Amino acid sequence: MKKNTITLINNSTGEKFDFDLIECTRGPKAIDFSKLFERTNIFSYDPGYGSTAGCKSTISYIDGNNSILLYRGIPIQDLVDKYTFSDICLLLINGELPKNNRESKEFELELRHLGFLHEGLINIFKAFPDGAHPMANLSSAVGALSTFYKDYMEIDSDEGYHMMAKRMIAKIPTLVAFSYRNSIGYPYVYPDISRSYVENFLYMLRAFPDGRLGMTLDGEVEIDPLEVEALDKIFSLHADHGQNASTTTVRNVVSTGVHPYAAISAGINALWGPSHGGANEKVLNQLAEIGDVKNVPKFVDRVKDKNDPFRLMGFGHRVYKSYDPRAKAIKSLKDELDKKGIKMNARFSEIAERLEEVALKDEYFIERKLYPNVDFYSGIILTALRIPVSLFTPIFVIGRMPGWCSQVIEHIKSGARITRPRQVYGGK
Ligand code: CMC
Repeated sequence: MKKNTITLINNSTGEKFDFDLIECTRGPKAIDFSKLFERTNIFSYDPGYGSTAGCKSTISYIDGNNSILLYRGIPIQDLVDKYTFSDICLLLINGELPKNNRESKEFELELRHLGFLHEGLINIFKAFPDGAHPMANLSSAVGALSTFYKDYMEIDSDEGYHMMAKRMIAKIPTLVAFSYRNSIGYPYVYPDISRSYVENFLYMLRAFPDGRLGMTLDGEVEIDPLEVEALDKIFSLHADHGQNASTTTVRNVVSTGVHPYAAISAGINALWGPSHGGANEKVLNQLAEIGDVKNVPKFVDRVKDKNDPFRLMGFGHRVYKSYDPRAKAIKSLKDELDKKGIKMNARFSEIAERLEEVALKDEYFIERKLYPNVDFYSGIILTALRIPVSLFTPIFVIGRMPGWCSQVIEHIKSGARITRPRQVYGGK
């Protein structure tokens, strides 16, 4: 059978070069340009990598024109309806969902037991000044975690890879909670293994030093299972997302042969930016800045003003040219929780919904295919769960951790070369 190829013709010399097309299971094929330079002495130029596939992957798949996101081939909506975040961690890392309830529970229980930190690591937070952003604390702490697990510099078995990932997934909520409590001068509350992975995170954020969550005249305060379910779904909807900026960072860094936790620490820094995961924090600040639903048209006009750099945070995406399926799921979760008694901030909810309504009818947004993304509604739910705005992006980190770990494992196992792009030189 004839190979599927593409011919590149140099119009000035008449030379022709055939390049193989790489087959895939879904989505666009790719031209194999790995020998482009060797064969033609020409580079490909693609700043921002909008048309470049940097790796082969089997972890998640996005069809941006049809609002589809799959984890290991399964639509996310099916997963969040039927499975917990810890099941999804197992799916991403192992490639398969737990076979039965027992396997699911055993894995979740193992995460609870691995959630404790070395006391030395805890001291790291004390070195940071008050008011430091938790994302800065977090990337440093994750980098430092590599010093406690030196063996992971060279992992030689699937078991080793899985343990590296489990430790990271288990410890990240503790790191987030400790970094937050340190930033506000509260004593740390250690993990409680009688609570589920997600409930324990809320517990570590909220509990008094004696381990109680508060008292009312009716007795001790407890965590509402609905809050746990909501946060579980939010984590699940962030678990992986193809080769976005932070995942690409993680892969690039791990390609140099460093410790996996050092690569993940770099990914955390990449996620922090407002164009990426940092957008969820900015969305809430923007809703507060808009202040009232009557101001929505004024802000939409600002977006369209060529002389104003203002952007609507939580809108637009490099890959989605239709509604982000995660935003759709988060919006329905918000409405569902509100009905069930977890009250959303009515003013923020109203402003966000009006913004969406106005934007989706506006020529500027239609032409550019700008829709709400995952960050648009998540902050409203997190606020209702009493999570401070500065922790929104760290929450994204907890959710994305199984994705990053799986991508690290896939990248190392693929034997990929060190990432080393070229440049088009325009200097002296
Ligand atoms: N508000 C107003 N205009 C926008 C927006 C926005 N949020 N996003 C894109 N545009 C316009 C942009 O000005 C440009 O217009 P023109 O063609 O007239 O110059 C056009 O749409 C294409 O934009 P781009 O910047 O070339 O698109 P990109 O693919 O490079 O950037 C993005 C994608 C997500 C960085 C961008 O849409 C953005 O800044 N959005 C706001 C920040 C945000 O919500 N980020 C979270 C992304 S989803 C979660 C994640 O990935 O972590």
